[in-house]
Amino acid sequence: MIIDIICGARPNFIKISPIVRELENHNQKSKFPINYRIVHTGQHYDQSMSKRFFDELEIPKPHINLNVKSGSHAKQTSEIMKKYEKLLNSKQPNLCLVVGDVNSTLACAIVAKKAGIKLAHVEAGLRSRDMEMPEEINRIVTDSISDIFFTTSKHANKNLLLEGRRKNQIYFVGNTMIDTLLYFQKKFNKPKIYFENNLKKNNYYVLTLHRPSNVDNIINFKNLLNQIDINCNNKKIIYPAHPRTSKNLKKINTLKNILVCKPMSYLEFLFLVKNARAVITDSGGITEESTFLDTPCLTMRDSTERPETIKIGSNILVGNDNSKLKKYLSNINQGKWKKSSVPEKWDGKTSKRIVKVIHKLLKNNV
Ligand code: UD1
Repeated sequence: MIIDIICGARPNFIKISPIVRELENHNQKSKFPINYRIVHTGQHYDQSMSKRFFDELEIPKPHINLNVKSGSHAKQTSEIMKKYEKLLNSKQPNLCLVVGDVNSTLACAIVAKKAGIKLAHVEAGLRSRDMEMPEEINRIVTDSISDIFFTTSKHANKNLLLEGRRKNQIYFVGNTMIDTLLYFQKKFNKPKIYFENNLKKNNYYVLTLHRPSNVDNIINFKNLLNQIDINCNNKKIIYPAHPRTSKNLKKINTLKNILVCKPMSYLEFLFLVKNARAVITDSGGITEESTFLDTPCLTMRDSTERPETIKIGSNILVGNDNSKLKKYLSNINQGKWKKSSVPEKWDGKTSKRIVKVIHKLLKNNV
């Protein structure tokens, strides 16, 4: 029995790390080993966006790298599809496991399904209801053709049921990103920028913005950064910038408190998130990590596909409303913020549950 584990972009690496570790544990003990092939699409390829994550998160070197790299959505997606199809023509797995909502997820899901391979989706059922997000399209299409759904919340189960998926296809297992966080938390370490700027626990912010809607229009991007800069009570704001933002960032040189740096490693970034006064972000995964770590989190989007981070977590939606941003940053500066609780099954055992299900299904030839 062999499964393909698809990954391509930074958040995928964080999600597959504990699944691969759990498969290894399983194979050491079980009479029914589950072999696997790690297929890296090459969507992220910079050392800081890819190799460093494999090294830190102890993921074995990918068995296959499709080396697709960047391009428009259609170009990137179609290149991945062509190359993955070629791979499947030479050897087919019994199951294809895709994670998250990036273009690599969508591309390989379509190819595997059309090749008649069973398809499992980790982090299924998330819905922002914002069809302007490419990730929302990726989620909906992937879920519409998957056979097995691994979810992070009961809310995601509900979404899938409403879309006609059957109850016995859905497994509420928890969150693999939290497996990774718990496994590596003792290794979180201070980045250089922490020493260089004499940062202390709770006296700085972390900022990540990379969504096209926030960063591609230079005037809006500049306005957003200025608003954050002037409302942060003169605390430092660490901004590890995604490569796609660097061109526009170079044109903005009026920022006083925002310190832009290169993409950070997982262990350094999580150290910063854990100890920050607050996180300001447009990423989805970071809202989950902030909720788990009880770090206040402002999301610069109008919607979220992860409602539990708002309902019981430390997250709040700001959208592009400057008055809200000002009010929330003022609350944070006064130490007024909701206390977050840990969502159900975000307990470090999610990958164990996933491997158990895969084992059962493969053994029974389902
Ligand atoms: C992708 C995901 C997004 C996720 C993000 C995490 C999709 C549709 N989006 O967005 O959901 O939050 O990853 O990081 O899949 N680039 C580099 N080096 C790299 C990778 C990218 O310089 O290693 C630059 C290129 O200019 C590229 C651009 O970033 O064109 C965008 O990369 P891409 O993979 O298309 O999307 P992300 O913005 O990274």
